[in-house]
Amino acid sequence: MLKEMRNTFTKIFGTAYEPEKFFAPGRVNLIGEHTDHEGGFVFPCAINLGIYALAAKRDDKILRLYSMNFDEGIFTPFEINIDEIKNKIDIRTWVNYPLGVVNILKNHGYKLNYGADILYNGNLPGGAGLSSSAAIEVLTGKIFSELFNLNIDGVSMAKFSQEAENNFVGMNCGIMDQFAVSMGRKDHAVLLNCSTLEYSYAPLNLENYKIVITNSNVPHSLAGSEYNLRRQQCEEALADINKIKKISCLCGLNQNELDEYSYCVKNPVNLRRAHHAVSENARAIRASQALKSGDLKTFGRLMNASHVSLRDDYQVTVPELDTLASLAWEFPGVIGSRMTGGGFGGCTVSIVESEKVNDFIEKIGAGYEKLTNRKASFYCIETSDGAKKIL
Ligand code: GLA
Repeated sequence: MLKEMRNTFTKIFGTAYEPEKFFAPGRVNLIGEHTDHEGGFVFPCAINLGIYALAAKRDDKILRLYSMNFDEGIFTPFEINIDEIKNKIDIRTWVNYPLGVVNILKNHGYKLNYGADILYNGNLPGGAGLSSSAAIEVLTGKIFSELFNLNIDGVSMAKFSQEAENNFVGMNCGIMDQFAVSMGRKDHAVLLNCSTLEYSYAPLNLENYKIVITNSNVPHSLAGSEYNLRRQQCEEALADINKIKKISCLCGLNQNELDEYSYCVKNPVNLRRAHHAVSENARAIRASQALKSGDLKTFGRLMNASHVSLRDDYQVTVPELDTLASLAWEFPGVIGSRMTGGGFGGCTVSIVESEKVNDFIEKIGAGYEKLTNRKASFYCIETSDGAKKIL
């Protein structure tokens, strides 16, 4: 991949400079879904599918960007003067993610006196809920940090990238994706408390099991989906409860407390959303403990329960994701399976006995096609470190 990128770099930018190499992973969330924006726990890991970049400094203020994934057939890079980056643009919309990050860095007072030529190419399926947006954001931040010695630490990088997505791209996401992409560690999952940003790494001792991601190939469109509406419903539930009991976020409540204050929540749909956030938060904590103590069975059951809650209370699954999860639950070598990411399409994550992975792919693939007329894609992934410069 990098060799082909090197040739393309010369073709597109025609520059004499030798570019530096970077990689940012995608992420898969094992459990703790839709809890990040409610101040709860998430438990994702960075994966070995991601986005690579070749980048070279310039000695003027021009930023040139080209994606081998999105710009096929266009032979010129997108070009802009760093000082002119202010708002989202309507053409080549993928560039809004890197532009957003550059803009946020400027807003935070980083003096960007020079531009860069950046070529991106990834093997992370876009629109699959594996955080291609967070990957390109954190990757761009990392490139600027390294090329211009900005010394931005990983947690700040995650925060800046989230800010870019919230305020420049206009997607009201939580911090999980950017955090996992920036701070991930090979062979570990990250247990992150999204209200304090305290985090710890849990070794992923999956013994003779593998993480298999199944793409429903129903493209998920978070910005266009009901993601923001779900957040709003949670906010309404919190505001109702706050009239009687002061708490800063829904995940500040445990299940008993939510039951006790449930009468305050006026809209029954909002109460279901709150119920998901609170129960999922408890599951994320329990699941991370189960994994630490080697209790994979409990871990798997909690994953299954997470899917049910996302299906029935939070209502962010689609029939295709439910079909994939149900097929996986019936498969003898699976200990747990659930939708992962924002929902409304995208992927499931399953923990599958290593020896049965091929059989899983064959059987689930066939069952899925029969029931939905769609083809699924499968990725048997490894975990990875967070965004980095490749030496
Ligand atoms: C998307 C968002 C994250 C998180 C998940 C759901 O991936 O970007 O912040 O809310 O959905 O857990």
